[in-house]
Amino acid sequence: MTTISRAVRRAEKILKTAGIATARLDAEVLLASISGLDRSVLLLTMGREVSDRELATLERWTARRALGEPVARITGSKEFWSLDFRINSDTLVPRPESETLVEVIVDYVRSTPLGIRYAWKILDLGTGSGCLLLALLNELEGAVGIGVDRAEGVVNQARENSIRFGLSKRAEFMVADWRTSPAGIVKSSAPFDFIISNPPYIESDQIQSLPIEVRAHDPVLALDGGKDGLECLPYIFSWASELLLQGGVMALEMGKDQALRVRAMIQKEDFEEIHITSDLAGIERVIRCRKS
Ligand SMILES: C[S@@+](CC[C@H](N)C(=O)[O-])C[C@H]1O[C@@H](n2cnc3c(N)ncnc32)[C@H](O)[C@@H]1O
Repeated sequence: MTTISRAVRRAEKILKTAGIATARLDAEVLLASISGLDRSVLLLTMGREVSDRELATLERWTARRALGEPVARITGSKEFWSLDFRINSDTLVPRPESETLVEVIVDYVRSTPLGIRYAWKILDLGTGSGCLLLALLNELEGAVGIGVDRAEGVVNQARENSIRFGLSKRAEFMVADWRTSPAGIVKSSAPFDFIISNPPYIESDQIQSLPIEVRAHDPVLALDGGKDGLECLPYIFSWASELLLQGGVMALEMGKDQALRVRAMIQKEDFEEIHITSDLAGIERVIRCRKS
């Protein structure tokens, strides 16, 4: 029999040898997920014995991680805004920097007289795991929202997450492609107070130079923003023009060094009061504006 402590050390050694910078953390997260424990609990019970089955799974998962598969892909889940999101092969792994967009909207709502209990209506374009919309609905207790994505597998995963978090009564998810005109429930639910999106924004010819964790494991549909990385934006602006309440807010996540270009594109549309917020790494990450 092996203890948690020894199993973690062994996995850590294999991951270090494979050049994984976060070897210790990854070993702990993998074993915590296998044992069904919170990582903090795992760390407090390092002397507990690990079953042969758990150990065999840890060996398999460690080998996958050593080959560059992200921890979240192996465990099938990722924490975002303190919620444990399930992901599948069609969904992007939620990124910590995307929490900036959630913060921007929550701060904005707090600055309004209507506050967090108002029945805000939110449309999330390219919802993925549903992380942005569901984090917001979790914060804004009166809000309702629709998340759309072009891939069926994505929408099913987002819906499942809404059920896991007890938010399914306030969240709807549907397949829709922003390159076509909004239809159905999206159109009939307009106008929205907020349109949010973390669109694919990587330049097509940069995708092959991304780390293996991203280029080999994240769906290309979630990454590829076309030649200049900004090809999705005109479609999103067009949906926002049609579906956003006058005075409503559009907030978009952007890639590194895109803020100036995105601002210039927005200035040519019917939007005003443009604000840019940086993420924790100091990268200009979110642009927010109001429909004039
Ligand atoms: C960068 S991911 C963001 C996912 C999630 N919102 C997040 O922040 O983790 C972009 C998402 O846009 C979706 N998408 C790409 N093109 C689309 C289109 N034409 N219409 C609707 N969704 C699209 C992708 O499937 C993907 O889920």
